[in-house]
Amino acid sequence: MAGGGKLQAPRGTFDVLPEDGRRRAKLRALCEELFEPAGYGYVETPIFEATELFARGVGETTDIVQKEMFTFEDQGGRSLTLRPEGTAGVCRAYLEHGMHKQPQPVKLWYWGQFFRHEAPQAGRYRQFNQVGIEAIGSDDPSLDAESILLLFELLEKSGAKGVRLRLGSLGTPETRRAYSEELRDYLRGREGELSDEVRGRLDANPLRAFDSDHPGTQAVVKDAPKLLDRLNEEDAAHFAEVRALLDEAGREYEVDDALVRGIDYYTRTVFEFTSDALGAQSGVGGGGRYDGLIEMLGGPHTPGVGFAAGIERILLVSELEAGQDTPDVYVVRDGESTSAFVVLGALRGAGFSAQMEQAGRSLKGQLKHADRLGARAVVIVGSEGMSVRDMQSGDQRDVSDLAGALDALKQVVA
Ligand code: HAM
Repeated sequence: MAGGGKLQAPRGTFDVLPEDGRRRAKLRALCEELFEPAGYGYVETPIFEATELFARGVGETTDIVQKEMFTFEDQGGRSLTLRPEGTAGVCRAYLEHGMHKQPQPVKLWYWGQFFRHEAPQAGRYRQFNQVGIEAIGSDDPSLDAESILLLFELLEKSGAKGVRLRLGSLGTPETRRAYSEELRDYLRGREGELSDEVRGRLDANPLRAFDSDHPGTQAVVKDAPKLLDRLNEEDAAHFAEVRALLDEAGREYEVDDALVRGIDYYTRTVFEFTSDALGAQSGVGGGGRYDGLIEMLGGPHTPGVGFAAGIERILLVSELEAGQDTPDVYVVRDGESTSAFVVLGALRGAGFSAQMEQAGRSLKGQLKHADRLGARAVVIVGSEGMSVRDMQSGDQRDVSDLAGALDALKQVVA
Protein backbone atom coordinates (compact mmCIF):
# COMPACT_ATOMS: atom_id res chain seq x y z
CA MET A 1 0.00 0.00 0.00
CA ALA A 2 1.24 3.50 -0.78
CA GLY A 3 1.73 6.38 1.61
CA GLY A 4 3.57 6.66 4.88
CA GLY A 5 0.79 8.39 6.81
CA LYS A 6 0.58 7.85 10.52
CA LEU A 7 -1.73 5.03 11.43
CA GLN A 8 -4.41 6.06 13.86
CA ALA A 9 -7.43 4.48 15.47
CA PRO A 10 -10.41 4.89 13.12
CA ARG A 11 -12.59 7.97 13.50
CA GLY A 12 -15.00 7.71 16.40
CA THR A 13 -13.04 4.92 18.11
CA PHE A 14 -10.62 5.04 21.03
CA ASP A 15 -8.06 2.94 22.84
CA VAL A 16 -8.61 1.87 26.41
CA LEU A 17 -5.36 2.36 28.30
CA PRO A 18 -4.64 0.74 31.68
CA GLU A 19 -5.95 3.50 33.97
CA ASP A 20 -9.18 3.70 31.98
CA GLY A 21 -9.19 -0.09 31.95
CA ARG A 22 -9.14 -0.20 35.75
CA ARG A 23 -12.08 2.20 35.98
CA ARG A 24 -13.99 0.05 33.52
CA ALA A 25 -13.22 -3.10 35.47
CA LYS A 26 -14.54 -1.42 38.61
CA LEU A 27 -17.73 -0.34 36.89
CA ARG A 28 -18.22 -3.81 35.52
CA ALA A 29 -17.75 -5.32 38.97
CA LEU A 30 -20.39 -2.91 40.26
CA CYS A 31 -22.80 -4.05 37.57
CA GLU A 32 -22.24 -7.67 38.45
CA GLU A 33 -22.77 -6.97 42.16
CA LEU A 34 -26.05 -5.24 41.40
CA PHE A 35 -27.57 -7.40 38.69
CA GLU A 36 -26.65 -10.95 39.67
CA PRO A 37 -28.32 -10.83 43.13
CA ALA A 38 -31.41 -9.32 41.48
CA GLY A 39 -31.66 -12.48 39.37
CA TYR A 40 -30.11 -11.25 36.14
CA GLY A 41 -27.76 -13.78 34.49
CA TYR A 42 -24.92 -12.66 32.25
CA VAL A 43 -25.29 -13.20 28.49
CA GLU A 44 -23.15 -12.49 25.47
CA THR A 45 -24.53 -12.37 21.99
CA PRO A 46 -22.53 -11.92 18.76
CA ILE A 47 -21.09 -8.53 17.85
CA PHE A 48 -22.60 -8.95 14.38
CA GLU A 49 -26.01 -10.28 13.49
CA ALA A 50 -28.17 -10.66 10.39
CA THR A 51 -29.01 -7.15 9.18
CA GLU A 52 -32.65 -8.15 9.10
CA LEU A 53 -32.72 -8.51 12.89
CA PHE A 54 -32.13 -4.80 13.35
CA ALA A 55 -34.25 -3.77 10.37
CA ARG A 56 -37.19 -5.65 11.94
CA GLY A 57 -36.39 -5.05 15.60
CA VAL A 58 -35.05 -1.50 15.76
CA GLY A 59 -37.27 -0.30 12.92
CA GLU A 60 -36.83 0.63 9.24
CA THR A 61 -37.61 4.31 9.74
CA THR A 62 -35.22 4.95 12.64
CA ASP A 63 -32.00 6.94 12.24
CA ILE A 64 -30.13 3.91 13.53
CA VAL A 65 -31.29 1.66 10.69
CA GLN A 66 -31.42 4.31 8.00
CA LYS A 67 -28.08 6.00 8.60
CA GLU A 68 -26.01 4.56 11.40
CA MET A 69 -25.41 0.87 10.83
CA PHE A 70 -22.10 -0.66 9.86
CA THR A 71 -23.39 -3.21 7.37
CA PHE A 72 -21.31 -5.58 5.25
CA GLU A 73 -21.64 -8.72 3.22
CA ASP A 74 -19.83 -11.88 4.23
CA GLN A 75 -18.22 -14.20 1.68
CA GLY A 76 -21.47 -16.09 1.38
CA GLY A 77 -23.33 -12.96 0.33
CA ARG A 78 -25.24 -12.64 3.60
CA SER A 79 -25.89 -9.13 4.86
CA LEU A 80 -24.51 -8.69 8.37
CA THR A 81 -24.48 -5.67 10.68
CA LEU A 82 -22.32 -4.73 13.64
CA ARG A 83 -24.87 -4.52 16.44
CA PRO A 84 -26.06 -0.94 17.07
CA GLU A 85 -27.88 -1.99 20.26
CA GLY A 86 -28.36 -5.09 22.39
CA THR A 87 -32.06 -5.71 22.93
CA ALA A 88 -32.79 -7.21 19.50
CA GLY A 89 -29.89 -9.67 19.83
CA VAL A 90 -30.87 -10.72 23.35
CA CYS A 91 -34.47 -11.31 22.23
CA ARG A 92 -33.22 -13.32 19.26
CA ALA A 93 -31.19 -15.45 21.67
CA TYR A 94 -34.20 -15.84 24.00
CA LEU A 95 -36.18 -17.29 21.09
CA GLU A 96 -33.36 -19.33 19.61
CA HIS A 97 -32.63 -21.06 22.93
CA GLY A 98 -36.27 -21.64 23.82
CA MET A 99 -35.98 -19.57 26.97
CA HIS A 100 -39.78 -19.16 26.97
CA LYS A 101 -39.81 -22.71 28.39
CA GLN A 102 -37.93 -21.56 31.48
CA PRO A 103 -39.75 -19.97 34.43
CA GLN A 104 -40.64 -16.40 33.47
CA PRO A 105 -39.46 -13.72 33.53
CA VAL A 106 -36.03 -14.57 32.19
CA LYS A 107 -33.65 -11.89 33.43
CA LEU A 108 -30.43 -11.20 31.58
CA TRP A 109 -27.63 -8.63 31.66
CA TYR A 110 -24.88 -7.83 29.20
CA TRP A 111 -21.83 -5.66 28.69
CA GLY A 112 -19.99 -5.10 25.46
CA GLN A 113 -19.27 -3.16 22.30
CA PHE A 114 -21.83 -1.52 20.06
CA PHE A 115 -21.47 0.37 16.80
CA ARG A 116 -23.25 3.37 15.34
CA HIS A 117 -22.03 5.46 12.45
CA GLU A 118 -22.69 8.84 14.07
CA ALA A 119 -20.77 12.11 13.91
CA PRO A 120 -18.22 11.72 16.71
CA GLN A 121 -18.18 14.25 19.54
CA ALA A 122 -17.56 14.19 23.28
CA GLY A 123 -19.38 11.15 24.64
CA ARG A 124 -20.47 9.98 21.20
CA TYR A 125 -18.44 7.34 19.42
CA ARG A 126 -18.78 4.94 16.52
CA GLN A 127 -17.65 2.07 18.69
CA PHE A 128 -18.87 2.38 22.26
CA ASN A 129 -19.76 0.14 25.17
CA GLN A 130 -23.06 -0.45 26.85
CA VAL A 131 -24.21 -2.29 29.92
CA GLY A 132 -27.80 -3.41 29.80
CA ILE A 133 -30.43 -5.62 31.37
CA GLU A 134 -33.53 -7.24 29.91
CA ALA A 135 -36.40 -8.92 31.77
CA ILE A 136 -38.37 -11.00 29.30
CA GLY A 137 -41.64 -12.89 29.66
CA SER A 138 -43.80 -10.74 31.94
CA ASP A 139 -45.51 -7.38 31.70
CA ASP A 140 -45.58 -6.83 35.46
CA PRO A 141 -45.03 -3.11 36.19
CA SER A 142 -42.62 -4.05 38.98
CA LEU A 143 -40.17 -5.12 36.27
CA ASP A 144 -40.33 -1.67 34.70
CA ALA A 145 -39.72 -0.15 38.11
CA GLU A 146 -36.93 -2.63 38.85
CA SER A 147 -35.16 -1.73 35.61
CA ILE A 148 -35.33 1.95 36.41
CA LEU A 149 -34.28 1.50 40.02
CA LEU A 150 -31.32 -0.71 39.13
CA LEU A 151 -30.03 1.91 36.71
CA PHE A 152 -30.59 4.58 39.34
CA GLU A 153 -28.55 2.55 41.78
CA LEU A 154 -25.80 1.82 39.30
CA LEU A 155 -25.42 5.52 38.52
CA GLU A 156 -25.48 6.39 42.20
CA LYS A 157 -22.90 3.74 43.14
CA SER A 158 -20.59 4.83 40.35
CA GLY A 159 -20.76 8.40 41.64
CA ALA A 160 -22.43 9.84 38.54
CA LYS A 161 -23.17 13.53 38.91
CA GLY A 162 -26.22 15.57 37.92
CA VAL A 163 -28.41 12.57 37.16
CA ARG A 164 -32.04 13.10 36.19
CA LEU A 165 -34.75 10.71 35.08
CA ARG A 166 -37.45 11.37 32.54
CA LEU A 167 -40.31 8.93 32.28
CA GLY A 168 -43.11 8.45 29.80
CA SER A 169 -45.44 5.90 28.31
CA LEU A 170 -46.08 5.18 24.66
CA GLY A 171 -49.07 2.88 25.14
CA THR A 172 -49.80 0.22 22.56
CA PRO A 173 -49.01 0.39 18.83
CA GLU A 174 -52.76 0.83 18.17
CA THR A 175 -52.99 3.82 20.49
CA ARG A 176 -49.86 5.20 18.92
CA ARG A 177 -51.19 4.74 15.42
CA ALA A 178 -54.39 6.61 16.21
CA TYR A 179 -52.41 9.27 18.01
CA SER A 180 -49.97 9.53 15.09
CA GLU A 181 -52.88 10.31 12.78
CA GLU A 182 -54.15 12.96 15.14
CA LEU A 183 -50.67 14.45 15.52
CA ARG A 184 -50.04 14.35 11.78
CA ASP A 185 -53.28 16.24 11.13
CA TYR A 186 -52.33 18.78 13.74
CA LEU A 187 -48.79 19.22 12.33
CA ARG A 188 -50.13 19.48 8.77
CA GLY A 189 -52.25 22.39 9.92
CA ARG A 190 -49.06 24.25 10.85
CA GLU A 191 -46.73 22.74 8.25
CA GLY A 192 -45.21 26.06 7.27
CA GLU A 193 -43.63 26.47 10.70
CA LEU A 194 -41.90 23.05 10.73
CA SER A 195 -38.30 22.24 9.82
CA ASP A 196 -37.71 20.62 6.42
CA GLU A 197 -36.61 17.40 8.09
CA VAL A 198 -39.71 17.06 10.23
CA ARG A 199 -41.96 17.97 7.30
CA GLY A 200 -40.21 15.35 5.17
CA ARG A 201 -40.94 12.71 7.79
CA LEU A 202 -44.52 13.63 8.57
CA ASP A 203 -45.84 10.55 6.82
CA ALA A 204 -43.30 8.06 8.11
CA ASN A 205 -43.02 9.24 11.69
CA PRO A 206 -44.67 12.46 12.89
CA LEU A 207 -43.55 11.67 16.46
CA ARG A 208 -40.05 12.68 15.47
CA ALA A 209 -41.20 16.30 15.62
CA PHE A 210 -40.76 16.06 19.41
CA ASP A 211 -37.07 15.28 18.88
CA SER A 212 -36.36 18.38 16.83
CA ASP A 213 -34.25 21.25 18.09
CA HIS A 214 -35.64 23.53 15.36
CA PRO A 215 -37.28 26.49 17.19
CA GLY A 216 -40.29 26.72 14.86
CA THR A 217 -40.98 23.01 15.25
CA GLN A 218 -40.58 23.21 19.00
CA ALA A 219 -43.15 26.00 19.17
CA VAL A 220 -45.64 23.94 17.15
CA VAL A 221 -45.02 20.83 19.22
CA LYS A 222 -45.65 22.64 22.49
CA ASP A 223 -49.35 22.93 21.75
CA ALA A 224 -49.67 19.53 20.10
CA PRO A 225 -51.97 16.83 21.48
CA LYS A 226 -50.11 14.54 23.90
CA LEU A 227 -49.88 10.76 23.70
CA LEU A 228 -50.08 10.40 27.49
CA ASP A 229 -53.61 11.85 27.33
CA ARG A 230 -54.62 9.20 24.81
CA LEU A 231 -53.49 6.01 26.59
CA ASN A 232 -56.11 3.29 26.91
CA GLU A 233 -57.30 2.29 30.35
CA GLU A 234 -54.93 -0.67 30.79
CA ASP A 235 -51.87 1.21 29.66
CA ALA A 236 -52.75 4.18 31.83
CA ALA A 237 -53.14 1.84 34.83
CA HIS A 238 -49.81 0.17 34.02
CA PHE A 239 -48.09 3.54 33.88
CA ALA A 240 -49.73 4.65 37.13
CA GLU A 241 -48.45 1.48 38.81
CA VAL A 242 -44.88 2.04 37.57
CA ARG A 243 -45.04 5.59 38.90
CA ALA A 244 -46.45 4.44 42.24
CA LEU A 245 -43.58 1.97 42.65
CA LEU A 246 -41.00 4.64 41.90
CA ASP A 247 -42.70 7.03 44.32
CA GLU A 248 -42.68 4.29 46.92
CA ALA A 249 -38.93 3.86 46.37
CA GLY A 250 -38.49 7.59 46.91
CA ARG A 251 -36.98 8.23 43.49
CA GLU A 252 -37.56 11.47 41.69
CA TYR A 253 -38.48 11.69 38.05
CA GLU A 254 -40.07 14.00 35.58
CA VAL A 255 -43.01 12.79 33.54
CA ASP A 256 -42.24 13.68 29.95
CA ASP A 257 -45.28 13.52 27.71
CA ALA A 258 -43.09 13.79 24.63
CA LEU A 259 -40.31 11.37 25.44
CA VAL A 260 -39.20 9.98 22.11
CA ARG A 261 -36.66 7.21 21.95
CA GLY A 262 -34.73 6.54 18.77
CA ILE A 263 -35.90 2.93 18.52
CA ASP A 264 -39.27 1.60 17.30
CA TYR A 265 -39.83 -1.44 19.51
CA TYR A 266 -41.03 0.43 22.58
CA THR A 267 -44.51 0.02 24.03
CA ARG A 268 -45.82 1.45 27.31
CA THR A 269 -42.97 2.58 29.63
CA VAL A 270 -40.03 4.54 28.24
CA PHE A 271 -37.36 6.30 30.25
CA GLU A 272 -34.14 8.17 29.87
CA PHE A 273 -31.46 9.13 32.36
CA THR A 274 -29.50 12.28 31.60
CA SER A 275 -26.61 13.94 33.37
CA ASP A 276 -26.11 17.69 33.59
CA ALA A 277 -22.39 16.95 33.63
CA LEU A 278 -22.54 15.81 30.00
CA GLY A 279 -22.68 18.20 27.07
CA ALA A 280 -25.02 17.88 24.12
CA GLN A 281 -25.00 14.09 24.36
CA SER A 282 -26.66 14.14 27.76
CA GLY A 283 -28.17 10.65 27.72
CA VAL A 284 -26.38 8.29 30.11
CA GLY A 285 -28.87 5.50 29.76
CA GLY A 286 -32.35 4.68 28.67
CA GLY A 287 -34.80 1.94 28.03
CA GLY A 288 -38.34 0.82 28.31
CA ARG A 289 -40.86 -1.87 27.58
CA TYR A 290 -40.99 -3.71 24.27
CA ASP A 291 -44.00 -6.01 24.45
CA GLY A 292 -44.20 -6.50 20.68
CA LEU A 293 -40.54 -7.06 19.82
CA ILE A 294 -40.32 -10.83 20.12
CA GLU A 295 -43.42 -11.21 17.97
CA MET A 296 -41.82 -8.93 15.36
CA LEU A 297 -38.87 -11.32 15.37
CA GLY A 298 -41.18 -14.26 14.62
CA GLY A 299 -41.84 -15.54 18.14
CA PRO A 300 -44.96 -15.76 20.28
CA HIS A 301 -46.30 -12.69 22.04
CA THR A 302 -43.75 -12.09 24.81
CA PRO A 303 -43.47 -8.88 26.79
CA GLY A 304 -40.13 -7.50 27.94
CA VAL A 305 -38.49 -4.49 29.55
CA GLY A 306 -34.93 -3.29 30.07
CA PHE A 307 -32.35 -0.59 29.73
CA ALA A 308 -28.91 0.10 28.35
CA ALA A 309 -26.42 2.67 29.59
CA GLY A 310 -23.33 4.03 27.90
CA ILE A 311 -20.17 2.98 29.74
CA GLU A 312 -18.13 5.88 28.36
CA ARG A 313 -20.82 8.35 29.38
CA ILE A 314 -21.06 6.92 32.89
CA LEU A 315 -17.29 7.18 33.23
CA LEU A 316 -17.35 10.76 31.94
CA VAL A 317 -19.68 11.88 34.73
CA SER A 318 -18.61 9.58 37.54
CA GLU A 319 -16.08 9.83 40.30
CA LEU A 320 -15.02 6.21 40.05
CA GLU A 321 -11.32 6.12 40.95
CA ALA A 322 -8.99 3.98 38.92
CA GLY A 323 -7.02 2.96 42.00
CA GLN A 324 -3.35 2.13 41.79
CA ASP A 325 -2.04 -1.41 41.71
CA THR A 326 1.19 -1.35 43.67
CA PRO A 327 3.36 -4.45 43.89
CA ASP A 328 4.13 -6.05 47.25
CA VAL A 329 7.65 -6.81 46.18
CA TYR A 330 10.17 -5.64 43.62
CA VAL A 331 13.05 -7.97 42.82
CA VAL A 332 16.30 -6.08 42.35
CA ARG A 333 19.09 -7.78 40.36
CA ASP A 334 22.49 -7.02 41.75
CA GLY A 335 25.19 -8.06 39.31
CA GLU A 336 25.08 -11.01 36.96
CA SER A 337 22.42 -12.93 38.81
CA THR A 338 20.19 -15.30 36.88
CA SER A 339 18.35 -16.51 39.95
CA ALA A 340 16.26 -13.31 40.22
CA PHE A 341 13.73 -14.75 37.80
CA VAL A 342 13.43 -17.91 39.90
CA VAL A 343 12.88 -15.76 42.99
CA LEU A 344 10.21 -13.78 41.13
CA GLY A 345 8.36 -16.99 40.30
CA ALA A 346 8.60 -18.24 43.89
CA LEU A 347 7.27 -14.93 45.23
CA ARG A 348 4.30 -15.00 42.87
CA GLY A 349 3.72 -18.64 43.76
CA ALA A 350 3.63 -17.67 47.44
CA GLY A 351 0.88 -15.16 46.73
CA PHE A 352 2.83 -11.90 46.62
CA SER A 353 2.28 -9.44 43.80
CA ALA A 354 5.80 -9.21 42.49
CA GLN A 355 7.67 -7.51 39.68
CA MET A 356 11.33 -7.54 38.83
CA GLU A 357 13.93 -5.48 37.07
CA GLN A 358 13.64 -6.09 33.33
CA ALA A 359 15.19 -3.03 31.73
CA GLY A 360 18.84 -3.13 32.78
CA ARG A 361 18.81 -0.30 35.34
CA SER A 362 21.71 0.29 37.73
CA LEU A 363 21.29 -0.80 41.34
CA LYS A 364 20.40 2.76 42.32
CA GLY A 365 18.05 3.08 39.37
CA GLN A 366 16.31 -0.15 40.36
CA LEU A 367 15.68 1.05 43.90
CA LYS A 368 14.34 4.31 42.56
CA HIS A 369 12.05 2.43 40.21
CA ALA A 370 10.81 0.17 43.03
CA ASP A 371 9.99 3.32 44.98
CA ARG A 372 8.19 4.84 42.00
CA LEU A 373 6.07 1.69 41.65
CA GLY A 374 5.17 1.94 45.32
CA ALA A 375 6.62 -1.49 46.18
CA ARG A 376 6.27 -2.35 49.87
CA ALA A 377 9.50 -4.34 49.88
CA VAL A 378 12.47 -5.13 47.73
CA VAL A 379 14.36 -8.39 47.45
CA ILE A 380 17.91 -7.81 46.30
CA VAL A 381 19.24 -10.89 44.54
CA GLY A 382 23.04 -10.85 44.16
CA SER A 383 25.53 -13.46 43.04
CA GLU A 384 26.58 -13.95 46.67
CA GLY A 385 23.21 -13.91 48.45
CA MET A 386 19.92 -12.17 49.06
CA SER A 387 18.59 -9.41 51.24
CA VAL A 388 15.14 -8.03 51.97
CA ARG A 389 14.51 -4.33 52.34
CA ASP A 390 11.47 -2.64 53.86
CA MET A 391 10.86 0.30 51.54
CA GLN A 392 9.02 2.30 54.18
CA SER A 393 11.46 2.06 57.05
CA GLY A 394 14.56 1.47 54.95
CA ASP A 395 15.52 -1.50 57.15
CA GLN A 396 17.44 -4.10 55.23
CA ARG A 397 18.58 -7.52 56.25
CA ASP A 398 20.38 -10.45 54.68
CA VAL A 399 18.58 -13.75 54.32
CA SER A 400 20.22 -17.08 53.67
CA ASP A 401 17.75 -18.58 51.21
CA LEU A 402 14.34 -18.26 49.58
CA ALA A 403 12.51 -19.54 52.64
CA GLY A 404 14.23 -16.89 54.70
CA ALA A 405 13.26 -14.22 52.18
CA LEU A 406 9.61 -15.32 52.25
CA ASP A 407 9.60 -15.20 56.06
CA ALA A 408 11.07 -11.73 56.10
CA LEU A 409 8.64 -10.53 53.44
CA LYS A 410 5.64 -11.86 55.32
CA GLN A 411 6.56 -9.57 58.19
CA VAL A 412 7.10 -6.52 56.00
CA VAL A 413 4.15 -6.89 53.68
CA ALA A 414 1.59 -8.28 56.16
P1 HAM B 1 -30.19 3.79 23.51
O1 HAM B 1 -30.86 4.90 24.22
O2 HAM B 1 -30.15 3.86 22.03
O3 HAM B 1 -30.95 2.47 23.97
O4 HAM B 1 -28.72 3.61 24.04
C1 HAM B 1 -28.48 3.49 25.42
C2 HAM B 1 -27.28 4.31 25.84
O5 HAM B 1 -26.15 3.98 25.06
C3 HAM B 1 -27.43 5.82 25.63
O6 HAM B 1 -28.16 6.40 26.68
C4 HAM B 1 -25.99 6.27 25.62
O7 HAM B 1 -25.51 6.42 26.95
C5 HAM B 1 -25.27 5.09 24.99
N1 HAM B 1 -24.96 5.39 23.58
C6 HAM B 1 -25.78 5.31 22.52
N2 HAM B 1 -25.14 5.68 21.39
C7 HAM B 1 -23.89 6.01 21.75
C8 HAM B 1 -22.71 6.48 21.03
N3 HAM B 1 -22.73 6.66 19.71
N4 HAM B 1 -21.58 6.71 21.75
C9 HAM B 1 -21.55 6.51 23.10
N5 HAM B 1 -22.61 6.08 23.80
C10 HAM B 1 -23.77 5.83 23.15
C11 HAM B 1 -30.63 1.21 23.55
O8 HAM B 1 -29.63 0.90 22.98
C12 HAM B 1 -31.67 0.16 23.96
N6 HAM B 1 -31.21 -1.15 23.51
C13 HAM B 1 -31.86 0.20 25.47
C14 HAM B 1 -32.87 -0.81 25.93
C15 HAM B 1 -32.62 -1.99 26.54
N7 HAM B 1 -34.18 -0.71 25.84
C16 HAM B 1 -34.73 -1.77 26.34
N8 HAM B 1 -33.80 -2.57 26.77
